[in-house]
Parts: sequence; C-alpha cells; structure tokens
Amino acid sequence: MSEKVRVGIIGIGTIGSVHANAYAKVDNVEVVALCDILPDRLAEKAKVHNVAKTYADYNELLADPEIDAVSVCVPNNMHAPIAIAALNAGKHVMLEKPMTLSAELGKQILAARDKAGKQLQMGMVWRQKPQARLVKEIVENGRLGDVYQIRVRLIRRRGIPGLGGWFTTKAMSGGGGLIDIAVHFLDLVMWLSGKWNPTKVSAKTYSKFGSPIADYHFVDMWAGPPKADGTFDVDDYATGMVRFGSETTLTFEVAWACNAQDESYVELLGTKGGVKISLDSDPVLHTEIDNRIADVTLKYNKKDEAFADELQKFANAVQGKGVVPATGEEGVVAMKLLDAIYKSSELNCEVDV
Ligand SMILES: NC(=O)c1ccc[n+]([C@@H]2O[C@H](COP(=O)([O-])OP(=O)(O)OC[C@H]3O[C@@H](n4cnc5c(N)ncnc54)[C@H](O)[C@@H]3O)[C@@H](O)[C@H]2O)c1
Repeated sequence: MSEKVRVGIIGIGTIGSVHANAYAKVDNVEVVALCDILPDRLAEKAKVHNVAKTYADYNELLADPEIDAVSVCVPNNMHAPIAIAALNAGKHVMLEKPMTLSAELGKQILAARDKAGKQLQMGMVWRQKPQARLVKEIVENGRLGDVYQIRVRLIRRRGIPGLGGWFTTKAMSGGGGLIDIAVHFLDLVMWLSGKWNPTKVSAKTYSKFGSPIADYHFVDMWAGPPKADGTFDVDDYATGMVRFGSETTLTFEVAWACNAQDESYVELLGTKGGVKISLDSDPVLHTEIDNRIADVTLKYNKKDEAFADELQKFANAVQGKGVVPATGEEGVVAMKLLDAIYKSSELNCEVDV
C-alpha cells in the first residue's frame, strides 16, 4: 500500500461531500475517485473536491486497483449491497449510518468483512464529538458509579428531511426519524455506558405529520424542498423503553416532527453521578462533593472536527496503526435494537431484542 490510503467515495451527495472535506484534513489519505449515479452532480463535485477519477457505476470504482478503501455515502438501502461488494473486491469500508436496513443484512456485511479480512467502520460520528469524548472519560473514571437509567430525547418540531424523497420512502430508508437520527444517540449511549446487551423493548412509532405532503408546514428543510408527488411511509415520532438485562433501562423519545419544542440530549443516571449531554450547552455532572449536592459544569475545547477525527481513525486502522472506533459488531447491535423497536410497535407489546 502507498504511504497514503487511497480512498474512493461512493455517493457524493451531502454526506459524501462532508467526507471529502474531512478527508482533506487527514494527512494519510488521498481521495482518488468519486462515484455517483447523477452525472451532473458527479462532475460538479469532482471539480469542487479536485478529484480526477469519476465513476457512474460503483462496480467499476471497486474494480480500480488504485483504490484501497471506500466511504459508502449512499441512501440506506444501498449500504449493504455496496459494502458487501466493496469488501468482496478487497476494499476497506467506511460505512455511513445506519449500518443498513436490518440486523440480518448487518450480519451479512460482517460475514463479508470476516471473509475479506478488511477493515469495516460504522459512521457513528457522534462518538468523536468533543463533549462525547469528555463524558466517556468521566464514565470510565467511575464518576457515575453504576449506570442504571439512560434517557435519550431527540425532538424536532418540524424536521423531516427531504420530504417525499428517499429519506421518507421506507423501501430506501428502512424507516423515519428512528433509523435516521435516533440511531446516532442510541449508539452513543451504548458506547458511553458500555451497555451493549439490549434484551427487551416496548415501543411505539407514529406517523402523524409527513402525509399528506402538501399539508406539512415547516420553516426549513434539510435535503428539501419537498417532492409534492413523493412518498411518506415512515415514522416521524417514536418512544419506548429498552431493558438491558434486569439492571439497566433506557427510555427514548425521538421526533422528526411533533408539537413540542426542539430539544436534544442524552442523559446517564448513575449511583454516584448523572450526566447530560445536549446539543446546545456544556455537559453538567450532577453529583455529590463531600456529602454536598453539587453540579459540575464540564468545560472543554469546542473545536469540533468529529468527521475528520473519525476518518483519521479509519485511515489509521487501514494502515494497521489503530482499531476502528465503531465496529460492525456494534452496528449489528444497533440494528437489532431498531428492528425490535419497529417490531414492538407493530405488535403493540414488549419484544425480545
Ligand atoms: N453521519 C451523519 O451525521 C450523516 C448525516 C447525513 C446523512 N448520513 C447518511 O449518509 C447517507 C447519505 O445521505 P445524504 O444526506 O448524503 O444523501 P444524499 O441524497 O444527499 O446523497 C446520496 C448520494 O448517493 C447517490 N447514489 C444513490 N444511489 C447510488 C448508487 N447506486 N451508486 C452511487 N451513488 C448513488 C445519490 O445520487 C446522491 O448523490 C445516508 O445513509 C444517511 O443516513 C449521515
């Protein structure tokens, strides 16, 4: 392998471009090729990111011997076929979230990784956020004691992305807000707490705002504007409780859209301390100091290079200089949890994960 990991980015939409910009900050990576099925976008992004080779078909990119590794940045339904084809072609794979559409497909990706003996990293970028790394240290230093309850709240007043497009079409996305955004925070809290054994779920998903598309009122839209004649057949709200054996519980609420104020946080409650990470304020450790009730605001350097940091770790793992920070095995656990949440909602009862 050359001194730099030679990367191809498959899917050069919003997040593909984020990867291209982040790789530019990673010293041991060179992005050598881009791939997209939209020729105009591909040509424009090749110019913007100064990448010489372009491919309209990912199979051709995967046959290019100059490429060591790929970032898979396509809609969710294409994650498994492309990741498996890439591993079979001997490429290392950086796979955007969610891992895929189901745990079953996730296991097929893992099997391809094991057969190929290549690196596979999940795009769980929240783990690289400075506030998340800070709290991970606090947890590992034992400041929380025994963590017995976890809270996840990710509420958007009106935040359905690309209404009518692939994000809201179940066959392409696998689901709505739950699989799209809750996956970040569910992964984050399992990583922070080290609890990777979800056992039972009781949950409900709803679909209240996305359809009919013409009746959806909003202020702004990620990946918009809406497609009036498009599809909305996914969840825009989900809530539930997860049991991790008999010792720990997790309650969650996630909304792409609902009639409540925007609010996002995760919170871990332990016997010695509780800590909350929110999008818009410093984490606070609720604890006791010398038998006094105390709140400690945790200060940190706000410089956030989470995408560059995750891709740096990927490149290092490819070069044998470290391990991937988010594994395929963890991806499968997250997929099992999502599968169980959807199943519990459908059956209206608690189910095994
Ligand atoms: N980590 C994060 O915070 C984050 C944020 C946004 C999106 N994502 C994930 O990234 C993925 C892409 O999301 P996005 O917002 O960039 O979507 P997008 O629609 O902006 O981009 C997807 C691109 O993939 C291309 N594409 C589709 N099928 C293809 C194929 N067979 N071969 C090559 N290219 C193909 C599309 O033409 C498009 O340009 C999704 O899985 C999404 O969940 C992650």
